[in-house]
Amino acid sequence: MDNTNEYLLNFKGFNFNKRLVNTEELEKMEDIEIRDDDVFLITYPKSGTVWIRYILFLIYFEGERNSNENLQPYDTMPFLEYNILDLDYVKMPSPRIFSSHLPYYLVPKGLKSKKAKILYIYRNPKDVLISYFYFSNWILTLKSPDTIEHFLEKFLDGKVAGSCWFDHIRGWYEHRHDFNIMFLSYEDMKKDLRGSVLKICSFLEKELSEEDVNSVVRQATFQNMKSNPREDRDQVINTLIGTRHNEGSFLRKGATGDWKNHLTVDQNERFDMIFKRNMKNFPLKFIWDINE
Ligand code: A3P
Repeated sequence: MDNTNEYLLNFKGFNFNKRLVNTEELEKMEDIEIRDDDVFLITYPKSGTVWIRYILFLIYFEGERNSNENLQPYDTMPFLEYNILDLDYVKMPSPRIFSSHLPYYLVPKGLKSKKAKILYIYRNPKDVLISYFYFSNWILTLKSPDTIEHFLEKFLDGKVAGSCWFDHIRGWYEHRHDFNIMFLSYEDMKKDLRGSVLKICSFLEKELSEEDVNSVVRQATFQNMKSNPREDRDQVINTLIGTRHNEGSFLRKGATGDWKNHLTVDQNERFDMIFKRNMKNFPLKFIWDINE
């Protein structure tokens, strides 16, 4: 039996993780008052949200950057539509930094004044697919897919939280002139973390000393984030959302090209065919292999 609807809530054509949202809150989302210095990190799920959020945290919270205290971006940098800590956004001090998976047409209308900044991070969708497969098997509030084959169908049909990957990125890109937005890829971040941090700082008009940039870069590598006990996001997820087993992690592999270890030739061909059909004339480049 397909019990997808136990897990998904469709609101205005977009699929949300049903167990983490309610329609009343979503109705209010578009009218949230936006401040000029708000920052929005927008991603399709599994595109590096936690990574970039941590980078933003290190960039913005100077006092925390070099401290040994317990760093917890969760209560200072909420996930807009999944407000699991029930924060009052109106009372939050500036600058507010939100993460979100929302499509362009559901974000607060005030973003169209083009003052608040949006950072859109995208990742090649085959790695997104594999990352999402493992994540769905780990997180209790998502439907656990039995096989990659099964999940591939759901993903390509957009029957997952976050809906269709193709629509998400195309929608944001095609409406980029309505927003103050910068696009950056996960793979470019991996290839040149320092250069990417500098690009992010420049977009956000944050001037960091060389030493501070080095500190951000050092702390934001996959290895350092994974081994840093101060940033125990898996524990937070376990407590706040619930997981099916203890082997999962937000920081699973952090690789580019892991899809090659999972997709069969047939699955890959099918993916390519649908990718080509949906992404015709799309100008952003995707990196499918770290050696490209
Ligand atoms: P994998 O499952 O492929 O390892 P999100 O935060 O949007 O859910 O994305 C999670 C993905 O980002 C995971 O991918 C995770 O490992 C990867 N990620 C998190 N921190 C990273 C880092 N510092 N460097 C590279 N990838 C990272």
